[in-house]
Amino acid sequence: MKKELEHPLLHSINDFNEAKQVIAGGVNSPVRAFKNVGGVPPFIFKGRGFSLFDVDGNTYVDFVQSWGPLLFGHADSEIEERVISTLQRGLSFGAPTELETTLAKKLVISYEGVEKVRLVSSGTEATMSAIRLARAFSGKDDILKFEGCYHGHSDSLLVSAGSGCATFGHPSSLGVPRDFSKHTLVARYNDLDSVRACFKEGNIGGVIIEPIAGNMGLVPAKLEFLQGLQKICQQNGAVLIFDEVMSGFRASARGSQGLHYLVPDLVTFGKVIGGGLPLACFGGRAEIMAMLAPVGGVYQAGTLSGNPVAVAAGIVALEKIKRDPKLFERLEVLAHQFCEGLKQAANSCGFALQTCVRGSMFGFFFTDKEVQNFEDARQSDTALYATFHQKMLQKGVYLPASAFETSFICTPMDASIIEACVGKAQESFYEIQNQI
Ligand SMILES: Cc1ncc(COP(=O)(O)O)c(C=O)c1O
Repeated sequence: MKKELEHPLLHSINDFNEAKQVIAGGVNSPVRAFKNVGGVPPFIFKGRGFSLFDVDGNTYVDFVQSWGPLLFGHADSEIEERVISTLQRGLSFGAPTELETTLAKKLVISYEGVEKVRLVSSGTEATMSAIRLARAFSGKDDILKFEGCYHGHSDSLLVSAGSGCATFGHPSSLGVPRDFSKHTLVARYNDLDSVRACFKEGNIGGVIIEPIAGNMGLVPAKLEFLQGLQKICQQNGAVLIFDEVMSGFRASARGSQGLHYLVPDLVTFGKVIGGGLPLACFGGRAEIMAMLAPVGGVYQAGTLSGNPVAVAAGIVALEKIKRDPKLFERLEVLAHQFCEGLKQAANSCGFALQTCVRGSMFGFFFTDKEVQNFEDARQSDTALYATFHQKMLQKGVYLPASAFETSFICTPMDASIIEACVGKAQESFYEIQNQI
């Protein structure tokens, strides 16, 4: 690894300017624009294993891994081969294939409580459809989400906490009607009292939560909190949805169930289950899933849903996970190695750091206080994160372009590359401390 970027980002700057002419903001998903951390996003030419290669000729160790999907790193040869052999038979049929059933069976086997699934193309679709099902099954319009959890960008879920003790949310995006957001209540993560307050106020038919939150940085829910939440749902006839789009097949081979073994009514998966291609799903209890069209009255559909190429990639990813029982243990050791190294490096330069690991997921906050919810996360030093991000990027380490994202280990990584990245972190902290 070189000390500084070998090549200035001249082509990337050019590409970004050109993209801005024809793509809104120059990117197809906001975080890619590096607005929260400053600088120009390197434009990517290719990926191999744990490495990203930009158009300027620089190489990075990639801890983003396409925001989670690439458990086996970039261009995994087995996934690549299956994708190629599948696409040679046709790209899309809009008709059932055996592949879809194969993948569905793997999902049903992997997660307790999933009796039926429906495949879709994005996590946003999965959570949006799960919410619709929850409303239909419970016969109630209000839903509950948690501040700091992200479930994609559908109207009902782009809602953040109201001010003060208000429990009804307000739109977190322009264009979301208040008439929609008034049906979404927002509670504090890891806080059962705030859940109870919401249930008093609204007629809640569905609760959606990331059992291991990865969208306010990495903040796992406490076991007692999830148990309490499930009980409240049961007492009030509300459908409990675990959003495991990120944590599924990432925190463990059984998502959050590998850690606490709670069985929700519905669950959503995405990211890893598509092996790097657009694929997600929602699933759960058969009696709830039976409400979906064509059997039931809840409408949900998709031209490219269950696309054979994406499904084939997902099948290989799940086969590879099944074949390697020690996989997550190994990746977790590497995640701990990086986090411990990072913490020591930060502390040695006078910066407080909190770290968290769950399987192949890890996160860190510049704060001396344990982070249990979004309020805590927001109090961390995000400006320091931005500076650290830029320093690491300069040294060829690609971290998420926001303090509120999770980082990922992939299977091609090993202890020596982690050690090298810890070395880069040490250099970065030293430079920040000494304003170099
Ligand atoms: C927990 C969670 N749910 C839902 C989504 C939305 O998924 P997608 O970006 O595929 O629409 C994300 C995306 O990051 C996520 O992390």
